[in-house]
Amino acid sequence: MRIVILVSGTGSNLQAVIDAVASGELDLEIAAVGADRTGTGGVARAAAAGIETFEVPFKEYTDRAAWNHELTRICRSHAPDYVVSSGFMRIVGEEFITAFDGTYLNTHPALLPAFPGAHGVRDALAYGVKVTGCTVHIADAGVDTGPILAQRAVEVHEDDTEDTLHGRIKIAERTLLIETLASLADRHTV
Ligand code: GAR
Repeated sequence: MRIVILVSGTGSNLQAVIDAVASGELDLEIAAVGADRTGTGGVARAAAAGIETFEVPFKEYTDRAAWNHELTRICRSHAPDYVVSSGFMRIVGEEFITAFDGTYLNTHPALLPAFPGAHGVRDALAYGVKVTGCTVHIADAGVDTGPILAQRAVEVHEDDTEDTLHGRIKIAERTLLIETLASLADRHTV
């Protein structure tokens, strides 16, 4: 199974997947890692691991459709079985969703459909929920919408800040993402 991973930030979940592949825990090939901006930690982590990288900086495109077209083209050129949004903070367009229909995965730091969007942890904390968590799902054209593959609950502590809560969610999220990819890879080889 070949995957392309898309990132916008530090790429700590990406690192967990890289490590799981390196240790043999995860039997798949990371064909490439891409970002929607230059200079992300995620791309640096991938390059350090010898993985092919690409950047399609959103800001360099005047037209969203042109950006989306280029992202679709590059991802497709790596012939992935799945494309994984791992902290990719950009909504992809119809062309991308059609190209990777049912094979575009997203990980989100909340129990969807609660608290979608760029601030899932902050919004859960502000609402006052006592339990939140993380979700891995097949992404469609919406914001953090699409069929749910797996979820894990994380308790909110009285003294949690966005950072402490997100830190514990990310620990659960890494395991959840690796387990979900392992199960997809199993099915792929059968
Ligand atoms: C992860 O918690 C991921 O779920 C979240 O960004 C973080 C990326 O962390 N994504 C979203 O909020 C998408 N709506 P990382 O760059 O350290 O892996």
